[in-house]
Amino acid sequence: MDITTTPAWSAALDSAAAISQTTLKDLFDGDSSRTETLSVEVLVGKDALLVDFSKQNIDKNSLQKLIAVAEQAGVERKRNDMFAGVIINGTENQPALHTALRAPLETSINVDGVDVMKEVHRVRTLVNDFAESVRSGSVTGATGKKFQSVINVGIGGSDLGPTLVHEALSSSTTPAVRAHFVSNIDPTDVRAVLQNCDPETTFVVLCSKSFSTAETLSNGRIIAQWISDAVGSKNASKHFAVVSVFPEKAASAGLSADYAFPMWSWVGGRYSISSAVNLVNVIAFGSNAFDNMLVGMRAMDEHFMTEPLHRNAPVLMGLLNIWNRSLLGRETRAMIAYSTALKSFASYVQQLEMESNGKRVTVDGQPVSLPTSPIVWGGVGTNAQHAYMQLLHQGTSVVPADFIGVAATPTRDTEAHDVLVANLFAQTQALAFGNSAEPHRTLPGNRPSTTLMLSSLTPHTLGALIALYEHSVFVQGCVFGINSFDQWGVELGKKLAAEVSAQISAPSQTGGTDASTANLVQWYNKHRSNT
Ligand code: F6P
Repeated sequence: MDITTTPAWSAALDSAAAISQTTLKDLFDGDSSRTETLSVEVLVGKDALLVDFSKQNIDKNSLQKLIAVAEQAGVERKRNDMFAGVIINGTENQPALHTALRAPLETSINVDGVDVMKEVHRVRTLVNDFAESVRSGSVTGATGKKFQSVINVGIGGSDLGPTLVHEALSSSTTPAVRAHFVSNIDPTDVRAVLQNCDPETTFVVLCSKSFSTAETLSNGRIIAQWISDAVGSKNASKHFAVVSVFPEKAASAGLSADYAFPMWSWVGGRYSISSAVNLVNVIAFGSNAFDNMLVGMRAMDEHFMTEPLHRNAPVLMGLLNIWNRSLLGRETRAMIAYSTALKSFASYVQQLEMESNGKRVTVDGQPVSLPTSPIVWGGVGTNAQHAYMQLLHQGTSVVPADFIGVAATPTRDTEAHDVLVANLFAQTQALAFGNSAEPHRTLPGNRPSTTLMLSSLTPHTLGALIALYEHSVFVQGCVFGINSFDQWGVELGKKLAAEVSAQISAPSQTGGTDASTANLVQWYNKHRSNT
């Protein structure tokens, strides 16, 4: 169904036109209960996540219209299908079951007639037990020395999630084993990491859902050689674990690993942080931290499953993104975390959202008739204020923004932390209400934002925050009518990269290539380093 042909969509469009005649100031002045109605708190044990949508250009009426759009798009039915393991990723003939990874053992979820929950919990125990053995030193390297460093080798979903979790948890917990992350095929990336590690005490997690990703294979081989050179090729495999749907592919790629942790084709790479993909952090921070992160994710899953649409944080967040992108035409959305520990959150959500919803055809292969994913970008506050916030305040484009903050700091510097958070709140205030002054100094205001506050940055709140965005992306995909779980757009570039690599090795083979690329290959060959 094309949502844009429905009366619900027409009503939402009318509502968007009406809201464009109002300002946030009018909306706050006209409704004293606005903040309450438009804020949702999700609790995880003693921790809390508050989402305040009140500084979005929305009122009760337009919210109702958006909820009608969600109903029309079948968001609740599709959500239930996703959790139940129905095949919703049609082009890959797969369910999308990342939520099974944090569901209790007694849940029953069938894929191809097999209940997957036993296997999910078996692998979780395997990961936790193995990580504890590395931490305690009962699993060692080839020369019997305790591992001091762990390198996660992966890219995209096999890197961005582990990196985010690592940075976030490092702010309050010192990792027991130093973690490093290698993703890019740029050899300077891997060499820079190796410079800071000792091969005898380094453990390597080769993390790749498909185990066919060129970057990961290349980096894995460089590291395997580096370890073999130091400990001998016979026992180098003691330093390697593989996390993959196809662990057996490692050996055929020339990468021997003593340890293997499965994942499943029904977990998308960008949705895989609740799987063995997080092994590097279970080694660094321990199994409790992983379990607690999954508790946080599960709390958000339950909230998403049970709360009515108008009090459901992922639903509201998804619908407000539809509102800004598809109904009001805002092309980008900024993500600004007022927490250095969350400095990679924008990159994480960028992949999650743009790879999931950057699509131009519907599930039936028909062209979409509405703008899909916004361009998601961002960084860290307050740095952003001294770099690009100028445009958000006074530029000619309206850029909706998500501001993320943390109430408690793990340091003793509460005064500095108060100023950090004050800046976050002040930015949202300036964007919403602006000022009046002479033209150069005028901020027009009426610029929308959502504020997300974590009581403190713990595995609980981090898990809940990640799951919130996962589900918000899902809600948007339902309304767009697209498949949020495939990523065919990245394939052509991979194929062409292999072809161009062959042309670089044999420059006379550039026949049939476009003139620009042939010229670039020629120029590159003239200047490349020859070893
Ligand atoms: O090329 C895109 C992509 O497939 C992402 O979807 C994925 O997260 C990343 O590459 C890495 O893939 P893999 O985990 O299979 O190495």
